[in-house]
Amino acid sequence: MSDNKKKFYITTPIFYASGKPHLGHAYTSIACDVLARWKRKTGHEVFFLTGTDEHGQKVAEKAKENKISEQEYVDSLIPNFKKVLETLNITNDFFIRTTNEQHKAFVQKMLSLCYEKGDIYLGEYEGLYCVGCERYYTQTELLEGNICPDHKKPCVQMKEESYFFKLSKYQDKLLELFEKNPQFLSPNQHANEIINRVKEGLRDISISRNKKTLTWGIEIPFDKNHVTYVWFDALFNYLSALDMNEKMEFWPADVHLVGKEINWFHTVYWPAFLMSAGFEMPKKVFAHGWWTVEGHKMSKSLGNVLDPIQLSEELGKDQLRYYLLSIGTFGDDLNFTKESFAEKINNELNNDFGNLVSRVHTLLTKYFGGSVPSAEKLDKEEVELTMSLNFFPDFDAHMSALRFKEALDLLWEKIRTVNAYINKVEPWKIQDTKRLESVLSVLTFAVQTFARYIECFMPETAQRIRKQYNFEEQDFSSFTAIPAGHKIGEKDNLFSKITLEKKAETKKEDSEKKEEKKTGFASLNLTVGEIIEVSEHPDAEKLFIEKIDLGNGDIRQIVSGLRAYYTKEEMLHKKVIVVANLKPAKLRGVRSEGMILAADDEEHVGLVLADAERGTQISCGKLQANATTRITVDDFFAVEMKSTGKEIHYENTALTANKKALYTDRNIVGNVR
Ligand code: MSP
Repeated sequence: MSDNKKKFYITTPIFYASGKPHLGHAYTSIACDVLARWKRKTGHEVFFLTGTDEHGQKVAEKAKENKISEQEYVDSLIPNFKKVLETLNITNDFFIRTTNEQHKAFVQKMLSLCYEKGDIYLGEYEGLYCVGCERYYTQTELLEGNICPDHKKPCVQMKEESYFFKLSKYQDKLLELFEKNPQFLSPNQHANEIINRVKEGLRDISISRNKKTLTWGIEIPFDKNHVTYVWFDALFNYLSALDMNEKMEFWPADVHLVGKEINWFHTVYWPAFLMSAGFEMPKKVFAHGWWTVEGHKMSKSLGNVLDPIQLSEELGKDQLRYYLLSIGTFGDDLNFTKESFAEKINNELNNDFGNLVSRVHTLLTKYFGGSVPSAEKLDKEEVELTMSLNFFPDFDAHMSALRFKEALDLLWEKIRTVNAYINKVEPWKIQDTKRLESVLSVLTFAVQTFARYIECFMPETAQRIRKQYNFEEQDFSSFTAIPAGHKIGEKDNLFSKITLEKKAETKKEDSEKKEEKKTGFASLNLTVGEIIEVSEHPDAEKLFIEKIDLGNGDIRQIVSGLRAYYTKEEMLHKKVIVVANLKPAKLRGVRSEGMILAADDEEHVGLVLADAERGTQISCGKLQANATTRITVDDFFAVEMKSTGKEIHYENTALTANKKALYTDRNIVGNVR
């Protein structure tokens, strides 16, 4: 029976066993879990893998600090990772550890395969190495003083005999893979960056460490003096786990879900290793964005690292799962704030959804003694409502493309439609019993439908709805309607409102104030967007209203003063730069969610343009304009950018989008604002 089901294989990265899991780790696991649950419900046989990455220099150093063996050290950390999975109701099918003997043997087999193929050779490596990242950097990738951009610590110069993997040999094959299978690099916004880097040329990569510098790793089968580089070891977990579970038929993976910082390893190294070892390519690598907390990067020194277990105890497991996936587009960088959390829970879960479930229960109890009536007299409204509940294809399409927010938006649109319907038909005023029966029958069906859709996001909530309505658990292939006379169970209030503590609010204000002081290029969020619509402001003859697509479903409405300088046709489809983190404002009664960059010499105005994909973020040397904290117009004006007529400069350095310089379309020399 299960052989007939379509197989679906999904993975998280394996997390470094070198510290405690935090919100970022939990996020990837939750996203994978939501998709795994959805696929199971829609007729797939799923294998969902997660685990820990336990070798390498970082682990060796931590063990030394703690004065215990490496194995003891990693063993002591694993329960923390497993506890997070359990707490958040993650339904992984297996937990792989790279210190597992079968994994080690598998990696050795792969090394031998690549070696026999002539893809591994002995050479010498010298370079700048970041212990935190477990990798060498080229100087241009580092900050001044050879500081690692991620760890903010200096890299060390290292030279050693090392085995190399012929990555350069795979350049064309990789480009062919990207071209033939555009899904492989997901979401689209990261694709160009990877493709361009590969086009620039690939260097062979060192895949071993001499035992003189590191012993904590898998021994190279053809040279006892070397251990395997941690990324070669770690990436093969995705196959070794299948092998040891005798589930090889799940290969190729459907989705490797990873954070954007390890996208390169998964989209370049991994397919090259696989090509060399003779395996099929995974279907998709999806890179998600990073979480900041109240506008700041999580870091130990700031003391703002969020513990997923503590968070789920404080805020609720399902609430946390819901928040993380509904607050913004999956793939984008997102910002965790107590305020937005409270807003989401209070408005969407409590007001929209919780109230609906509770209202229908109350009506059934009050008018029908807790039995579901039959639907015999359907008015046009009930027919329409029932039809609108048939949104499976759209929801499924969103889920399969990992558009979690869009799937939830769709579900909430339906929930709100049902709430509006209740307000409109006012069941408590209906005199005709037959009609009332139909209304409540349809409403019960709506509650049941929503519980089924929400389940992969909020499994405990779905279970509680089923319990209070006595619904059976059903997947999407075998659905049976609720029979008339079905008795519902006891009422249960799903959510409670969150009131923000005063303390939390002052903290937030403080951090906002601090943030306001931070000016300069890095306080901006400058994103490439395409103008997809231009219309005249109804109440201001100098203003246009533009709709701008920033990629990834982010479509902004912006009011601009460009009407005096451009025609609508001239503006349409231009790739402009949007200040995307401005506080929204109303301009003559129309909401404006950002600004478009333009150069002006007091007389003429020219748009600042980019030759880059929608969603590309603007850089200036090593600075990135990807801030998440909102700024005021004054903050923006404080950042002085100039147009030289050809390029746009900030502090004498050209602004670029994906390495290509920005320009103005009218060669204007002047200020940019
Ligand atoms: N061990 C490697 C992965 C090897 S996979 C073959 C590794 N481990 S890690 O512990 O650093 O975990 C990285 C993953 O944690 C990221 O890819 C991402 O999924 C998640 N996150 C860590 N911090 C994060 C945020 N602040 N925000 C969102 N997710 C981030 O890299």
